[in-house]
Amino acid sequence: MSKIMKLNNGLSIPQMGVGTWTLRGETARQNVRLALDAGFRHIDTAQMYENEVEVGQGIADSNIPRNEVFLTTKIVPNTMRQGAEAVRRSIDESLARLQTDYLDLLLIHWPVKGCIKDTWQVMEDYVRQEKVRSIGVSNFNPHHLDDLLTYAEIRPVINQIEIHPYMSQEDNIAYNHQLGIQVEGWGPFGQGDIDVLGHPLLQSLATKYEKTTSQIVLRWIVQRGLITIPRCRPRHFAENLEVMHFSLSDADMAAVGSLNRNMRSSEVNDPENFPW
Ligand SMILES: NC(=O)c1ccc[n+]([C@@H]2O[C@H](COP(=O)([O-])OP(=O)(O)OC[C@H]3O[C@@H](n4cnc5c(N)ncnc54)[C@H](OP(=O)(O)O)[C@@H]3O)[C@@H](O)[C@H]2O)c1
Repeated sequence: MSKIMKLNNGLSIPQMGVGTWTLRGETARQNVRLALDAGFRHIDTAQMYENEVEVGQGIADSNIPRNEVFLTTKIVPNTMRQGAEAVRRSIDESLARLQTDYLDLLLIHWPVKGCIKDTWQVMEDYVRQEKVRSIGVSNFNPHHLDDLLTYAEIRPVINQIEIHPYMSQEDNIAYNHQLGIQVEGWGPFGQGDIDVLGHPLLQSLATKYEKTTSQIVLRWIVQRGLITIPRCRPRHFAENLEVMHFSLSDADMAAVGSLNRNMRSSEVNDPENFPW
């Protein structure tokens, strides 16, 4: 069972969840149900993943009461461009696809220039209507947060950003924490051309601790006080949950931190160059 983290609005989130990017159709439905069977209680999806229907079905199939599952979705960037009414419609459609009356967490998926204020104000409205419990952001750099906080009546609870050993995000994380915003890391193992798990240091730590290299990476993330959502793959469930039950020494934490290269999995994932 995963540790529970407190949000700045008094609500809680399981520190480890499962991410559903690239999961489609029956695989998405089954893997979500199997994740809940395995003990996970935190599911991350997004309108962009085109699997909200199957995620909702997987939760329904599990027979676990809705209030025991922490469910996140994210607003698709293109919708934000179309104005407040489109954002309202898209949140309502997410609720319907996910077969739920409320979301635990709704995030702005990317900081789309010129559309964040309108979108945020609609999201605040959904919190007031109790259709969304918490709201937050994703892929925000400090200046995006500074701008949001000039008008936000409700402070974001979470910023979901790319975090892996080659992209440790020290400064961004510290800034979020200073503001009382929890940080959730996506893509813990890197993607595309980045072979994070093949790094010799991670492999030697895996041998030293008798763990897998993935467990070393996930432990480095949770031991930094971050939320993690490794991809929802049944073959990795037991391995990932075990991460809550061992520790890395301070020296080994620092050694993994020293692998940082400020290297994103893809240039497209740089919020400053986001092509939307
Ligand atoms: N906010 C954003 O912009 C954003 C962007 C990307 C992702 N996300 C969220 O973050 C979640 C995680 O990121 P991700 O899916 O891109 O990548 P990830 O969790 O790093 O997983 C990528 C691949 O790593 C392999 N892997 C190795 N060890 C694993 C382990 N112990 N557990 C799970 N997978 C392991 C899996 O490959 P095999 O299947 O071959 O084993 C998996 O497909 C996503 O599913 C999504 O919910 C958010």
